Amino acid sequence: MLTSRSIVFVVSVLILWDGARGFMPLFSSNSTTHRDITRQAVLRKTAEVCRDIAASDGRTFNLTINNALTVEQVQSACSGNSTSILSSVMYHTSIASMYFSNALVDVVYALSEEHHFDDETFKGGREVLTSDVFAVKSSVKQENFVAGRFALGRACHTLQDFYSHSNWVELGKTAPYSALIIPDRSLENLAGPNVSTCRNCTNGDCTNNILPDVLQQGLLTSGYFNIFSSEKPHGKCSHGGFFDKTSRQPPTGGISKDTVDSSHGSLHQQAADLAVNATMELLEDIRLAVGDNNFLSLMGLSQSTVLCFVIDTTGSMADDIAEAKRVSFEIIDSKRGSQQEPSAYILVPFNDPEFGPLIMTTDADKFKAEINKLSASGGGDIPEMCLSGLQLAMTAAPPSSEIFVFTDAPAKDADLKSTINALIESTKSVVTFMLTDVLSSRRRRGVGGVASRAMSQADAQLYRDLAKASGGQAIEVTKSGLSAATTVIEDSSASAVVNVFQVVSNPGKPEKFNFTVDDSIKNMTLYITGSSSLSFSLSSPSGASQSSSVSSGPLASMTTAGNLRRLSLNTDNQTGLWEIDVNSNDPYSVKVIGQSSVYFIYNLVEPNEGAHGDYSLKEGRPLTGGNATVLVTVTSDAVKITEVTLYDSSGPTEVNGTLQARPVSDGNILVFFPNIPSGDFVLRIKGEDSATATTRATPTSFQRQASTQIKSSSISVTAQVTSASIEPGSSLSVPFTVTSMSNGAVNPNASGTFSIKAQNDRSYSSSSPSSLSMSEGKANGTVTITVPSSAASGTDVTLTITAQDSAASDINYTVLRFSVTAKVTDTTRPVCQVVSTTGDCSSSVCSSSQWGLTANISDGVNGTGIDSVTLRQGSGTLNTTSSSSGGVNITVATYSASCCSQSVELKILDKVGNVQLCTGQAKVATTAAPVTNTTTNSTAVGLHSVSLRRPLWVSLLLPLVWWY
Ligand SMILES: *[C@@H]1O[C@H](CO)[C@@H](O)[C@H](O)[C@H]1NC(C)=O
Ligand SMILES: *[C@@H]1O[C@H](CO)[C@@H](O)[C@H](O)[C@H]1NC(C)=O
Ligand SMILES: *[C@@H]1O[C@H](CO)[C@@H](O)[C@H](O)[C@H]1NC(C)=O
Ligand SMILES: *[C@@H]1O[C@H](CO)[C@@H](O)[C@H](O)[C@H]1NC(C)=O
Repeated sequence: MLTSRSIVFVVSVLILWDGARGFMPLFSSNSTTHRDITRQAVLRKTAEVCRDIAASDGRTFNLTINNALTVEQVQSACSGNSTSILSSVMYHTSIASMYFSNALVDVVYALSEEHHFDDETFKGGREVLTSDVFAVKSSVKQENFVAGRFALGRACHTLQDFYSHSNWVELGKTAPYSALIIPDRSLENLAGPNVSTCRNCTNGDCTNNILPDVLQQGLLTSGYFNIFSSEKPHGKCSHGGFFDKTSRQPPTGGISKDTVDSSHGSLHQQAADLAVNATMELLEDIRLAVGDNNFLSLMGLSQSTVLCFVIDTTGSMADDIAEAKRVSFEIIDSKRGSQQEPSAYILVPFNDPEFGPLIMTTDADKFKAEINKLSASGGGDIPEMCLSGLQLAMTAAPPSSEIFVFTDAPAKDADLKSTINALIESTKSVVTFMLTDVLSSRRRRGVGGVASRAMSQADAQLYRDLAKASGGQAIEVTKSGLSAATTVIEDSSASAVVNVFQVVSNPGKPEKFNFTVDDSIKNMTLYITGSSSLSFSLSSPSGASQSSSVSSGPLASMTTAGNLRRLSLNTDNQTGLWEIDVNSNDPYSVKVIGQSSVYFIYNLVEPNEGAHGDYSLKEGRPLTGGNATVLVTVTSDAVKITEVTLYDSSGPTEVNGTLQARPVSDGNILVFFPNIPSGDFVLRIKGEDSATATTRATPTSFQRQASTQIKSSSISVTAQVTSASIEPGSSLSVPFTVTSMSNGAVNPNASGTFSIKAQNDRSYSSSSPSSLSMSEGKANGTVTITVPSSAASGTDVTLTITAQDSAASDINYTVLRFSVTAKVTDTTRPVCQVVSTTGDCSSSVCSSSQWGLTANISDGVNGTGIDSVTLRQGSGTLNTTSSSSGGVNITVATYSASCCSQSVELKILDKVGNVQLCTGQAKVATTAAPVTNTTTNSTAVGLHSVSLRRPLWVSLLLPLVWWY
């Protein structure tokens, strides 16, 4: 047990220690990181799945699968002959969320040996891994891919650490240790607790420190690690390195292969390569359990965005609901079956006091059915639970999704504004509001006997502020004008939409703005919101211009809906520098979008203190007067970033960042901003198209702008999380610290109180202080969150803690995500036994004869039961029937096929996602009856023994064996 004093000690030591134990989490100039390993494995496995799908569709797939794949190459190869503009934003974002979650294991579970396979915790480590893998499978089952990626990132970390921390590589192994991801296999040849495994390193050289006996007998061990104490069991190996006190105690030195400079650094690359293969094996297990389509969704390999609606369902909303239905059906029906079909549909209804439930599905028909069920009823003059509904949508949608909110009422839960702002910044969601009848407070219209609600300008301001913070728009129209405004929803559901330029002027003042359009941009669209007195003039690079009084001119055709003007630009002569001259003294916004493969993603990161010099993801706002580092990734292999700035349109100010290519690789750069002023910034990038640079006199330059505003703060909020998962029916306490900062350092003279809000998106019961008093600039609190026992495994919960200063002028936050994971007790795979084979395939004309087999399938007495039996290979027909024998449910599978398809592979899943493969082969009279089966005792590599006994089939089965 840790006492409170030792917790303080732990925390302060951890601040010095950067937590890196295992491969470096994110960046290294000369070693392979968790990020590299995860990325390579994801790219290779995704490419394999696409290759197999292409093969089964009879398409060619030309990509060579190796560790040098780029995100763009895989995305493009997987998109086949698609003619639409490709975007790899989702894929990049998903991979980033997996490697950031991977890296977080070093922070959250810094002191847990199981999470890193330290201290010979093979059994415990496998339990941790198994539990994360089940969390992935159950999240995917609920189509909750965002949560699935977080759990997958964690699982990858623990699995990858095994290859650095154990002596698997030293034992000469060249294949991954499959038993780690197959929990019903026994862990064999573990060095017992009393077996010495290491001897002293000599003069810092640890090359031969593992005892020869251990290597000869093939005993598995791993290094002991402790940052506080040098104690370890007698004769055991240590992890090694500066922070590991046990390595200074005999046997001295260590065996880790974390980096090229580790005790066994010469084996680092071998360990990293094996970790890539092991990660691929884990991904294959998940692929089998969830199916190819779900697997690709989990990887984020999608061209399209989600369609996400948050809809007020009170009485006066009937027209709006009808319009949301019309526009969504139109999008669905025009894109169904194409690569632009939305990757998922999210719907959150709200009124008062209800909000939710969240409906999230990849099935367009299910979404249609759900939106059809919405009906406007009740309500009246009261405000509605708009922000609660929005919170649900934001935590469920993938990062950077655009969310459309339909309402005609003020928000009753306006106190959630700080939480929503935090989630906007954390998820980079773009929120666009469709506000109907804002100005109609004096006009009462009866709808089904219910008076229309009044939304004052002040009420609407909350929505405008959120739209502005997220890069969305607040569109104010009459009910009858709504259908002209929903064109923005269709625009945003096009493929590869990018933000070229965006500005919000509030208070408005007349101003000229310039933006560069490159020749990769197609279908350029310009939006202007503002009062009816606003006027503007748009000028193209060739000098042509068009004023706001012209609705169809040389440059664009314009439509007006409420406060929104939408200009669809004519296609010719778009490349170059444009200018828009806006004349208005009321608030207004300008936004320029287009379709292009060239875009970027970014994440704020912060350097870890301590020896390693790595970075971790930064949650919350950067400190005013402090510095900030941003990891920027461009979604194209063919462009070069030349400039990254933080742009504040209110000044206007633009802060230049310094670009640092190293220690990052693969097209990412770190950008350093030394001194962040206060203000509302957006990240802007400029660059050049390097591909065309050689073929052109002058390279084309491009600019892109992020949607989400970055605000700085003088408050720091940090939480000390010790677990990323919570069991149903249990509670988790999260201690957190709020600090008043000045110029990037703690301000010890600060006094007063912070008001605190701790909000979770599941409405789970939680307790937290509502205010905290500072002492020497700091205050500590604890949030306790309780998950009901009815919560389903695979649910995720997002906890947002915000702290506001007493002047209510400054805010900061942290956003924490947890998986609800029930303990899985069924860790054994189903059993499959082929009981008979019929037919004979010895005839020379294969199409003239048939063969078949019957297999008995069971999940055992203690299993969760058979979920599905499907054909993985073989073109015959499969039938299954269920029966019961001796209290055990048996599924009987019968397969019959033409002799032209002589082998079959069945995939058997139980209810929690344990996978068994079962193979069979037609009889050919010249050889003995070739019946095969795999059971839980034979390993998943059971095919090997088949192949060995019957060399004839080796060539046939090789493509299968390859899977393992
Ligand atoms: C690897 O990089 C680290 C950090 O930059 C450096 O300290 C170390 O000397 C390098 N090791 C080798 C073998 O180049
Ligand atoms: C794949 O390569 C073949 C032969 O090099 C070529 O004919 C085919 O067009 C390529 N297919 C694609 C999709 O690139
Ligand atoms: C892509 O290929 C598929 C199958 O080969 C074909 O049906 C489809 O028409 C092609 N699409 C395009 C846009 O060429
Ligand atoms: C990883 O797998 C690939 C392909 O299966 C193989 O070529 C390679 O040798 C393996 N790497 C290691 C380190 O075992």
